[in-house]
Amino acid sequence: MIRKAIFPVAGLGTRFLPATKAQPKEMLAVVDKPLIQYAAEEAVAAGATELIFITGRNKRAIEDHFDTVFELESELNAKGKTELLEIIRSVVPSHVNCIFIRQHKALGLGHAVLCARSVVGDEPFAVLLADDLMEGPEPILSQMAKIHEFQQCSVLAVQAVAPEDTRSYGMVAGKEIEPGLLQMSGIVEKPAPEKAPSNLGVAGRYILSPAIFELLANQKPGVGGEIQLTDGIAALMKRERVLAYQYEGQRFDCGSKLGFLKANVELGMRHPEVGADFTTYLKTLCQGF
Ligand code: G1P
Repeated sequence: MIRKAIFPVAGLGTRFLPATKAQPKEMLAVVDKPLIQYAAEEAVAAGATELIFITGRNKRAIEDHFDTVFELESELNAKGKTELLEIIRSVVPSHVNCIFIRQHKALGLGHAVLCARSVVGDEPFAVLLADDLMEGPEPILSQMAKIHEFQQCSVLAVQAVAPEDTRSYGMVAGKEIEPGLLQMSGIVEKPAPEKAPSNLGVAGRYILSPAIFELLANQKPGVGGEIQLTDGIAALMKRERVLAYQYEGQRFDCGSKLGFLKANVELGMRHPEVGADFTTYLKTLCQGF
């Protein structure tokens, strides 16, 4: 069972300026929910009870989002708006605990994960990158948790990426042990297309063995001068089995404007309250193009 999930949220979000000048990129809303809440819900659905946020400057809104807002609750209560009250109360289910750790220096994703070491201790844990909004018939992390439970080793979510996009992903090498599941033999952070070991790139979901902490603590800076999680995983693979799993579902790259817009359109079309009207609107709009 994966009880602890890490959310590295210290990044600056420069690709969304000026929207992210005074608010964290993880608080950008897809339809009516901030990105970080989608990731938190996915972790809770997979069984996580400790949500560990690795934050930085300008990220207070994330702490506030996962906190109780007494004034708002009492006002909604007084007005009898029970549905809205339920929506804000259910942001953090009562059995879930949120922990915030400050990453004092932007030393990279591997370093962010390492910041959670003392809280995670000696048990397997999940890492979710909120930029990647993942949707599937079953939540992606739940799919991975099942594999982890059965295989008892680290599992990374991977997907096929186009050759021109390898520079944006950790690219994996491996041998298929069953359909959609590879035993990894290599991983490279953001290689040029000709250096990519396969067409499979890591999506922002990981279940990792705690052995990675020691390796990250000794990891030298890699691509971009940062302590890369990918390099820690490459070191882990030499000691333990690491699997790459081609998940069932869809990933929206909400770290890019286009991906973020696609997420808003698709989730907007499926939204119980506005979906039907929005779809009609889009159809009419598209007729004009
Ligand atoms: C990070 C990881 C990369 C992974 C990607 C998935 O990169 O370093 O290995 O493939 O997330 O979104 P970033 O997108 O933070 O640059």
